[in-house]
Amino acid sequence: MRILAIETSCDETAVAILETERNLEIVTFKILGDSLYSQAELHAPYGGVFPALAKREHQLNLVPRTVDALTQSGMLKTGKSDIDEDALQKMRDEGFRNDTKKFLEEHAKPAIDMIAVTYGPGLEPALWTGITFAEALGKAWGIPVLGIDHMEGHIVSALLRSAETAKLREQDAEGRRQKIYNLHPINFPLLALLISGGHTELVLMKEWFAYEHVGQTRDDAIGEAFDKVARLLELSYPGGPKIAELAKKARVRLSAQAGGNPIIFPRPMAEDTTCDFSFSGLKTAVLYKLKSMEKISEEDKEHIAEAFENAARDVIVLKTKRALKETEAKTLVIGGGVSANEEIRRAMTAMIERDFPAVSLHFPDKTLTGDNAIMIGAAAYVRSVSGHAPQAALAARGNLRLG
Ligand code: KG4
Ligand code: ZN
Repeated sequence: MRILAIETSCDETAVAILETERNLEIVTFKILGDSLYSQAELHAPYGGVFPALAKREHQLNLVPRTVDALTQSGMLKTGKSDIDEDALQKMRDEGFRNDTKKFLEEHAKPAIDMIAVTYGPGLEPALWTGITFAEALGKAWGIPVLGIDHMEGHIVSALLRSAETAKLREQDAEGRRQKIYNLHPINFPLLALLISGGHTELVLMKEWFAYEHVGQTRDDAIGEAFDKVARLLELSYPGGPKIAELAKKARVRLSAQAGGNPIIFPRPMAEDTTCDFSFSGLKTAVLYKLKSMEKISEEDKEHIAEAFENAARDVIVLKTKRALKETEAKTLVIGGGVSANEEIRRAMTAMIERDFPAVSLHFPDKTLTGDNAIMIGAAAYVRSVSGHAPQAALAARGNLRLG
């Protein structure tokens, strides 16, 4: 089966083409095309994602990304698709509608069996762009369009194992290496820790896609806290990786000198008996610390970054540990943009080795931690083969909750 997957929930415009294969219990995804445009730099001056700009950029970039992904896969064919005017009319922006129409008028239906598109959670105007585009293509090509929960994509992304051993490496039409992933077999119950710019939650899956909510943030998401603290330190958006970099510098320096970091921040809700999180107090603690300082040197910034990352890491690990105890999960999956954080990976791995050696722990490949379309296509396929057919998309749901 070939899936064209589209992701436009936030500030990445991504299109991927996956060829799926199922051999006994082994599910394989061959990535025939993968085209991603990150708008992060455009949003940087606003200190976060600016929804109207995100929507405009998705509108400008969806057709070029689709053409690129199809070209990579060798499936871009000149010809004409059967345009469905009603579907096109749902695209309100004239330029976007015309670009899509032109693309369909000039290209024949590729050998794609289904389209998967993120329908939530995320920025609604951004989600609508992907959905209306997916519908226009789906109608023109006479194939189903399925809506996928973005967070489900992040869960599945952590289970994709690169199968690029020398033997498996294949090349596309232009001699590029194709990426191949296997879906890691898992034991249920599976606990997923989802940490991103918009989410911090612990969800339990007793079987594929049957969710129970175990814990969530009561205020800011962890990625949001990284981004806000970065702003306080005058670092540009997205702040997570920049905070991590400063923290690493501090760690290297502090390990070579006595005394440790002079700054310590609280571990919010560490004493609380639920698996819920809170990050806004931590951000405020950073703000007060900065206000109390007369001059802030580069070294001070590094200390603050390290102290903040340590506090965020500790509560994430502590709450995950509590949730593992409560749920007796056999598998722990960590997904979302913040799962790229090295310090959280290190501490989580150490906790699992020490306290839950029987639990298998999965992080996404470093290329799949951020938003991407591969995870959306993979989630759609896993849903289809596990008897949980995704629903026809097709309204954006900004506050969609796994369920
Ligand atoms: O999943 P994602 O790409 O988008 C959402 O769905 O939100 O997550 C983006 C978030 C941002 O807040 C970004 O600062 C954070 O992930 N992030 C990190 C790191 N890399 C990205 N946070 C901490 N450490 C990192 N290395
Ligand atoms: Zn995400």
